[in-house]
Amino acid sequence: MKGIILAGGSGTRLYPITYAGNKHLMPIYNKPMIYYSLSILMLSKIRDILIITTPEDLHRYKKLLGDGRHIGINIEYREQAKPRGLAEAFIIGEDFIGEDSVCLILGDNILYGSGLTEFLLKAKEEVNNRGGGMVFGQYVMDPERYGVVEFDKDGDVKRIIEKPKNPPSNYAVIGLYFYDNHVIEIAKNTKPSWRGELEITDVNNEYLRKKRLNVKLLPRGTAWFDAGTHESLLETSNFIEAIENRMGLMVGCIEEIAYRNGWISKGDLLKLAESLMKTEYGRYLKRIGEEF
Ligand code: TTP
Repeated sequence: MKGIILAGGSGTRLYPITYAGNKHLMPIYNKPMIYYSLSILMLSKIRDILIITTPEDLHRYKKLLGDGRHIGINIEYREQAKPRGLAEAFIIGEDFIGEDSVCLILGDNILYGSGLTEFLLKAKEEVNNRGGGMVFGQYVMDPERYGVVEFDKDGDVKRIIEKPKNPPSNYAVIGLYFYDNHVIEIAKNTKPSWRGELEITDVNNEYLRKKRLNVKLLPRGTAWFDAGTHESLLETSNFIEAIENRMGLMVGCIEEIAYRNGWISKGDLLKLAESLMKTEYGRYLKRIGEEF
C-alpha cells in the first residue's frame, strides 16, 4: 500500500498565520504539523509516501523531509496547482500509486490513542485483502464542518453528506482513508461540486453505492483533531504537550517510529540526535536510542 499526504489547500481559516506559510508546517507543540500525519502512515507500515502541496511550498517540505531516506522511507513530491479538492490527490498521484492500494491522510489531521497502531494495521490488511474502501467515523459536536454519516433505521450507512446544514448524525468522516486501486478511476469520474472541488465524499458515496465501503467508527479513547482553526491549533498543541509530559514519550516523533519499526539502526538514530542536541527533541532521540 502507498501513502499520500495532502498538504496543500489555502488555510484561510488560519489567516493571518497562513498568509505567508503553509498550514502543515505550523507547529503542533514541538513539531511541524505534518510530522503527525506522516507518523500515522509510518505506524501503518507504509514506506512509499507522496506529499502533495502547493507549488510555492513544495521546496519547504523537501527541505524538511528530503527523500525520507534518513527515516527509512521513500518520499516523493507533487504539486497541486490549485486547491481543487481532496479527491484530486488520486489523479495527481496516479503514476505514484501504480497498481497498488492507497492510504490518504490530510496533513492537518492528528490522531492519538492506545491501540491505534493495531487498528491501523488491521484496516490496511482488510483493504489489501478484500478491496473496497475504508473510512472512519468519529462522534463530534460540530458535524456540520465535515462529511457526515447518515445511518438507516437498521444502523447501516446510507450515505455521507458533505458539510450538511442539518447533520443527520454526529458522526464525522475523519481525514484518513484507505482504498483499493479503483479509487483512481472513481476520482477521475467525479465531477466538481458546487464549490468547484472534487469531493472525497463523492468518492466515498460511489464506493457505498457499489457496497464496497466500510465505515468504521473510531474506538472510544481515540483522540482525533483537525488543526485547521486557531482554537484547534492551540487545543491540539496543549493535548500533545500534556500527553508527552505525563508519559515521557513523544507523539508523532518520526525518527523514533522509524527506529522502532526497524527501518533505521541505533547508530542512525543517535546520529540524527547529534545535530539536535541543543533541543529537547534531540535529547529525546538520544534517550530512545540508548534505552530501547
Ligand atoms: P480544508 O481544511 O478543507 O481546507 P484548507 O486547508 O485549505 O483550509 P481552509 O478551509 O481554512 O481554507 O482542507 C483539508 C486538508 O486538505 C488540509 O490539510 C489541506 C488539504 N487540501 C489540499 O491539500 N488540497 C485541496 O484541494 C484541499 C481542498 C485541501
